[in-house]
Amino acid sequence: MKTIIEPFKIKMVEPIKMTTPEERALRLREAGFNLFLIRAEDVLIDLLTDSGTSSMSAEQWAGMMRGDESYAGSRSFFEFEAEVKRITGMKHVIPTHQGRAAEKILFTVLHRPGAVYIGNTHFDTTRANIEFTGDTAIDLPIPEGTVPSLYHPFKGNIDLVELERRITANAGRVRGVILTVTNNTGGGQPVSLANIREAPRIARAHGVLFILDACRFAENAYFIQRREEGRSERSLLEIAQEMFSYADGCTMSAKKDGLANIGGFLGLRDDRLAMEARNLLILTEGFPTYGGLAGRDLEAIAQGLREVLDPAYMLYRVRSVEYLAEKLLGGGVPMIIPPGGHAVYLDAGAFLSRIPSEQFPGQVLANELYLEGGVRGVEIGSVMFGKKDPETGRPIAPRMELVRLAIPRRVYTQSHVEYVAEVVLAVHARREKLHGLRMTFEAPFLRHFTARFEPL
Ligand code: F0G
Repeated sequence: MKTIIEPFKIKMVEPIKMTTPEERALRLREAGFNLFLIRAEDVLIDLLTDSGTSSMSAEQWAGMMRGDESYAGSRSFFEFEAEVKRITGMKHVIPTHQGRAAEKILFTVLHRPGAVYIGNTHFDTTRANIEFTGDTAIDLPIPEGTVPSLYHPFKGNIDLVELERRITANAGRVRGVILTVTNNTGGGQPVSLANIREAPRIARAHGVLFILDACRFAENAYFIQRREEGRSERSLLEIAQEMFSYADGCTMSAKKDGLANIGGFLGLRDDRLAMEARNLLILTEGFPTYGGLAGRDLEAIAQGLREVLDPAYMLYRVRSVEYLAEKLLGGGVPMIIPPGGHAVYLDAGAFLSRIPSEQFPGQVLANELYLEGGVRGVEIGSVMFGKKDPETGRPIAPRMELVRLAIPRRVYTQSHVEYVAEVVLAVHARREKLHGLRMTFEAPFLRHFTARFEPL
């Protein structure tokens, strides 16, 4: 059959509150033209993030009821540990309350004065956790990875030539090479198995650790199966196992491909590093057999990891993102191509080419999608990543002005996706009439969460 269906039935529903354009205009004004400050119930289709927003399956809910809440040695921990080991092969599995907690522990135990980490593109919490210890994070995406309109099957790859050069140039200072799969900040783009194999070969030759940021490992495995030569006959599990086999460790937010609403883990092979990590875990997260989670959460993650590598699930998952992208490309909407695994990234710079970066075209576009149809995406551009020249105070534009429409897993149906496409196309039709914004308030760090704006 031509139609790819959602491979599930719906057992429980959550109503969406309908709002009028007038109500949305009022809410947006009250929120200082910042969608982070709007209540979720005033949003019709919430594409702010795919993190922690999945629907759980009946089996996951059943696991929640079975959760063993023992402080030490809970049965739920051993189920979770066995499932994580089956996929990652890591000797040590350390549960954490979410991905950034695993990052915080890893970069604290790895810290040395002047340490450097090199990645395809560090996610913002990864970079922040590295910089918080005083260390340095360097991004080395392949050149194709930073041009939205350029097609490449593995735009998430790290630039291997540059990687070797930088490791040599920073002799003795590079502590880790980190590949984020899929590369979220670069557009949810996959990393090829060849790249995942070669990067650690270079790292090891210099005594450098190789770490996977594995939040979306299953989506990455699917793209390898679909796009990389000689991989189409292998199962998603086999591909995932091979991806992890090259790594010395991994951090994971189970809020993405764990299909859970909370949770994460740190995986390590080295005994001494794992011991140091567990010592810190006890200080900040909890005992090593629960690490900041309830037993029921560990059950939900274990079951989520069993379900995420199901080929029918992944076909539906990636196809629903592609379907949205096709509808928009058909209407001439500029975006990062090909679409990523978990989101469509609109190219707001090209969409609103008359609005200069210092008037926040991504923020304007995100706000208009909300006004038009109650759709909430997230700006990834000059509000989130814009910097100021320390001498002149003039704004420095980031490499790309994007609006991410992240699709929660198993939450929305095909008609929801069609509705989102209609909303984007309606805003595209009136793009020439839109105006920029002026920022009236900004916090010193992570300003996008609380900034306020006024229309120009
Ligand atoms: N690494 C990547 C690639 C991520 O996308 C995220 C979270 C994290 C680490 C941190 O995980 O939230 O569990 O602490 N990304 C979310 C997003 C927030 O919207 O993309 P966390």
